[in-house]
Amino acid sequence: MGGIGYGREGNVMKSQKSEIVILGIETSCDETSAAVLVNGTELRSHVISSQIVTHQRYGGVVPEIASREHCLHIQPVVQQALDEAKLGFSDLSAIAVTYGPGLVGSLLVGVSGAKAMAYAAGVPLIGINHLEGHIYANFLQHPDLEFPFLALLVSGGHTHLILFEAHGQYQVLGHTLDDAAGEALDKVARTLGLKYPGGPEIQKVAKEGDAQAFKFPRAMLEKNSLDFSFSGMKSAVLNTLNSAHMRGGTLNVPDLAASFQQAVVDVLVQKAMRAIKRTGVKTLLLAGGVAANTLLRETLEQELAVRNVRLVCPPPIFCTDNGAMIAITGYYHYLAGDFSPWTLNADPGLSLT
Ligand code: KG4
Ligand code: ZN
Repeated sequence: MGGIGYGREGNVMKSQKSEIVILGIETSCDETSAAVLVNGTELRSHVISSQIVTHQRYGGVVPEIASREHCLHIQPVVQQALDEAKLGFSDLSAIAVTYGPGLVGSLLVGVSGAKAMAYAAGVPLIGINHLEGHIYANFLQHPDLEFPFLALLVSGGHTHLILFEAHGQYQVLGHTLDDAAGEALDKVARTLGLKYPGGPEIQKVAKEGDAQAFKFPRAMLEKNSLDFSFSGMKSAVLNTLNSAHMRGGTLNVPDLAASFQQAVVDVLVQKAMRAIKRTGVKTLLLAGGVAANTLLRETLEQELAVRNVRLVCPPPIFCTDNGAMIAITGYYHYLAGDFSPWTLNADPGLSLT
């Protein structure tokens, strides 16, 4: 059983303010984002400064450039979030910040910035696990969500099936043994000559393609396994392309994109259905950047409706990295009195367990 250790000793006692105002800060990869959330339901502001265009020319995120960009943007992004919320540091109840997993340099900018701001403002610091943040993004629009539920977290770095029994009480049922779903989509997109990030590009190009054109394998692993493996599926696309090139031929990129997207979605949906059957839960939460994928959302919706299971997913803006998801997770930690010490450090390999 994993957990987030609600109730551990914090750096500052709970504030006595009547409203709970959380500033959430996210800098784990290539988005500098800040949001102000009041009482867990009212998102007063949400600012995202994306570095996608900067990294696009390299075909992926360059860690050193990402850290430098965060350094440039963290202060103005936070200030804009406060200004739009018409609040100042003195109105805050706590500052929540992602401390892992992610790129160490990027995380360090957020963690040190948040520490300095929280210390100066005299409010508690709350370190947030980025993966938990993605899942809790669902509480932004569904504060009434009831436990237990299953979460399918599909991002650029992670693919997890998690059973949540209560706040802070969860169990990882399955995870990827190699590439994450988003990572495989990004790598295949790059090979197909599409822009970074690859997931949305594959989705766009796939609209013009035939999802049945190529029969890529679906890695289901042994019977009943809830783990994932996308590396072999990704290699199958690369091998298909290489064979065609060696014969001097070319392949239809939309067909390749549509067929690969279909294969990834089939695996994600089938594993989720296995987990639903095993646990008997009646709610599935979708989370992470790949959760923005329309085919995945529509297929899950159809499959879950047949089983009388509710699908909850955030709007696309709260699927990819954002400060609002960190603010809402911080809110629940705040309610539990779970604050972080001033020695909080970036933890690039932080896991859910
Ligand atoms: O959650 P996220 O923003 O960052 C991580 O924590 O990794 O996820 C980024 C991933 C990338 O791999 C990106 O290609 C993928 O999410 N992604 C999508 C879509 N939008 C973003 N994948 C498929 N379809 C999309 N519409
Ligand atoms: Zn993320």
